Amino acid sequence: MTPRPTSEHLVSAAAERIRDRPAWVADVGTGSGAIAVSLALAAPKAEIWATDVSATAVLLVRANAHRFGVRDRVRVVRGDLLAPVPGQLDLIVANLPYLPRHDRDRYPVLGAEPEGGAFAAGDGLGLYRRLLRSAEDRLSASGAVVIQLHRRVVVAERDELPALRARLAELVPVPPQPPPELGWPCGEPAPQGAVA
Ligand SMILES: C[S@@+](CC[C@H](N)C(=O)[O-])C[C@H]1O[C@@H](n2cnc3c(N)ncnc32)[C@H](O)[C@@H]1O
Repeated sequence: MTPRPTSEHLVSAAAERIRDRPAWVADVGTGSGAIAVSLALAAPKAEIWATDVSATAVLLVRANAHRFGVRDRVRVVRGDLLAPVPGQLDLIVANLPYLPRHDRDRYPVLGAEPEGGAFAAGDGLGLYRRLLRSAEDRLSASGAVVIQLHRRVVVAERDELPALRARLAELVPVPPQPPPELGWPCGEPAPQGAVA
C-alpha cells in the first residue's frame, strides 16, 4: 500500500479532467488513500468514494482524509471494486494489484506490502479486467477511467474500455524480467536494461 511516484501523475491526469467542476469519482483499491485524498485536495468540488477490501486500509484512509481536512468529500467504503459505490460516476481512478502472485519471489522489495496489496491471481490482471467491465455500466456518458499499471498512467473514455481491456496484457512487461530495484515496477525508475 506504499504510494509510488506514478500515482502523482495519475492524480494530475484525473484532476486535469475534473478541474473545479463538481464530479462523482471512485478511487478503487484506495490503500492508504493517497490518491483519493490528493485528488480531493486538487479538485475541490469532487466527491470521492474510496473503496478497498482491506479493513486496515479503510481505517487508514478515514484517518488520512480527516488529517488533510477532506473527510466530508472522501467517503470510505469497504468492498469489492465498485460494488459499494452508488450512482453514475464521472471518473474512476485505480491503482490495483497487477503482479502475478506466482511471481512474488521475484519482488522481495514488496515483501513488506500486505498480502493482496500488490499481487493478484493468474496473470495478475483479473482485477483490472473486472473493473473495466463494470466501469462500462457505471460511468456517465462523458465518463472516463484513469488507471495505474506498472509505471504507466492510462486514461480511457467509456467507449474505449473494451479495447483497453483487450490490450491490458500488452501494457505490462513480458516475463522473464530482470530482478527489480527498489520500488520497480510500481513506480520507481526501472533498472538499466529493464523491460518496461
Ligand atoms: C497496489 S495497492 C494501491 C493502493 C493505492 N491505490 C495507492 O496507489 O497507493 C492496491 C490496493 O487494492 C486493494 N484491493 C485488492 N483487491 C481489491 C478489490 N477486489 N476491491 C477493492 N480493493 C482491492 C488492496 O487492498 C490494496 O489496498
